[in-house]
Amino acid sequence: MLDLAKHVVLCALLGCVYASCPPRCECSEAAHTVKCVSRDLRSIPTGIPGYTRNLFITGNQISRIGPESFKGLDNVTNLSLSNNRISEVESHTFTGLRSLRSLDLSNNQLAVIHPEAFIAQNQSLRELNLSRALYNHSSVMDLANSLRWSSLGNLRSLDLSHNSLIFLPSRIFSHLSSLQRLQLSNNSLVAIHNSTFSGLERLQELDLTLNALKTVPEEGLRELDSIYPATLLLGENPFMCKCGIEPFALWLNRSQERISDAEDLVCAFPASMRNTSMLAVGTLTLGCHQRNVGADLALQTSYVFLGIVLGFVGLIFLFVLYLNRKGIKKRIYDMRDACREVWDGYHYRFEIDSGPRLSQVSTNADM
Ligand SMILES: *[C@@H]1O[C@H](CO)[C@@H](O)[C@H](O)[C@H]1NC(C)=O
Ligand SMILES: *[C@@H]1O[C@H](CO)[C@@H](O)[C@H](O)[C@H]1NC(C)=O
Ligand SMILES: *[C@@H]1O[C@H](CO)[C@@H](O)[C@H](O)[C@H]1NC(C)=O
Ligand SMILES: *[C@@H]1O[C@H](CO)[C@@H](O)[C@H](O)[C@H]1NC(C)=O
Ligand SMILES: *[C@@H]1O[C@H](CO)[C@@H](O)[C@H](O)[C@H]1NC(C)=O
Ligand SMILES: *[C@@H]1O[C@H](CO)[C@@H](O)[C@H](O)[C@H]1NC(C)=O
Ligand SMILES: *[C@@H]1O[C@H](CO)[C@@H](O)[C@H](O)[C@H]1NC(C)=O
Ligand SMILES: *[C@@H]1O[C@H](CO)[C@@H](O)[C@H](O)[C@H]1NC(C)=O
Ligand SMILES: *[C@@H]1O[C@H](CO)[C@@H](O)[C@H](O)[C@H]1NC(C)=O
Repeated sequence: MLDLAKHVVLCALLGCVYASCPPRCECSEAAHTVKCVSRDLRSIPTGIPGYTRNLFITGNQISRIGPESFKGLDNVTNLSLSNNRISEVESHTFTGLRSLRSLDLSNNQLAVIHPEAFIAQNQSLRELNLSRALYNHSSVMDLANSLRWSSLGNLRSLDLSHNSLIFLPSRIFSHLSSLQRLQLSNNSLVAIHNSTFSGLERLQELDLTLNALKTVPEEGLRELDSIYPATLLLGENPFMCKCGIEPFALWLNRSQERISDAEDLVCAFPASMRNTSMLAVGTLTLGCHQRNVGADLALQTSYVFLGIVLGFVGLIFLFVLYLNRKGIKKRIYDMRDACREVWDGYHYRFEIDSGPRLSQVSTNADM
């Protein structure tokens, strides 16, 4: 109170030439930075200087923020409100921060998020940190609404790690067309659906480590293919290596170059498969479709056997021919001689026949 009074008096006397600093905060004009760290503050302090670009109000007891909290702070680009007890973010809370690029709300207890909570002027927001920020999974519907209505078309990075999310509402990220980095690690996601990641046209990195994925069926694989070529992190999921996981295992093998932790992915269940590399999981290791595999093998074996038998028969035939080569030669000569005799006989008969016919023709011509 005394600080404030002094500040007001000084301001009145000097026309506020000297920039001031709110009580319990540290201000550095040279660094354009104000820090109010772990000072038991219950609300956003007033009197933050206009030069401030980096504003840290962290580790306090602030439970509510609204549009009146950040007036006249045109130059703030980085705002951290992490480690407070913020439970509600009202509409247009950050609209006054005309240059805001990075907003850190990590380690809070957001239960109510208004649809236009994150609107920043000129779509200036680039980074939003909501790590360990949601009170419980129920807040995810509010979050989905605010991601939709807050004009976050320029957002590059969104951190939603450590939030106990069980599922992601369909198309939750569909308005984040510039997003490059999405962190979803340490949630409880069990599946990836059709349109979970739709709209993420520029995604470069997706972190799904430490979730509850037991496998990823075709639908999810298609979804992950739809955000190609974003790199993926899939480690520390409880993969269940039993029949049915082969499409996923094959996909992993095929997509290795974009899965940063492909080499580290291991089965968690069943116990007999624990620690087996997911890349080594194939049809044979799982013993699935054993009958088909057996049939294929039998068929192949029978083809090989047939080939060998035919080859053997052929060899014997050639060998017999070789042994009888003299007899065959003789028979060929005999046949030749016989042919010759037949030919000679025919020739002779032709000559006999042709005589009278010729004379007959000439007689006809004379008439
Ligand atoms: C923001 O910074 C600019 C340049 O540093 C300065 O001229 C302006 O007065 C500052 N805005 C406020 C509200 O103090
Ligand atoms: C402010 O945010 C930017 C990203 O928008 C980051 O690169 C920079 O390090 C941050 N500065 C401070 C002081 O935290
Ligand atoms: C909005 O952004 C554009 C370009 O990024 C800039 O030229 C313009 O001054 C900004 N307007 C406001 C009100 O900050
Ligand atoms: C978000 O905040 C948490 C905790 O404050 C920090 O560990 C994490 O690195 C931040 N995320 C990003 C993307 O900066
Ligand atoms: C989340 O917290 C609210 C308020 O305490 C409660 O009504 C709701 O059931 C909780 N949701 C979950 C999923 O625990
Ligand atoms: C995951 O998040 C929970 C809280 O949701 C936390 O207690 C736990 O330490 C986190 N695990 C890791 C490895 O960060
Ligand atoms: C997934 O998308 C296809 C069309 O792309 C649609 O036919 C199918 O019903 C969808 N499945 C779910 C579970 O939404
Ligand atoms: C799995 O591998 C890790 C490290 O490679 C090892 O610490 C752990 O004991 C192994 N677990 C089992 C059940 O083999
Ligand atoms: C994985 O892919 C490689 C080629 O990239 C192939 O040689 C190998 O047999 C495949 N492994 C399995 C189990 O399919």
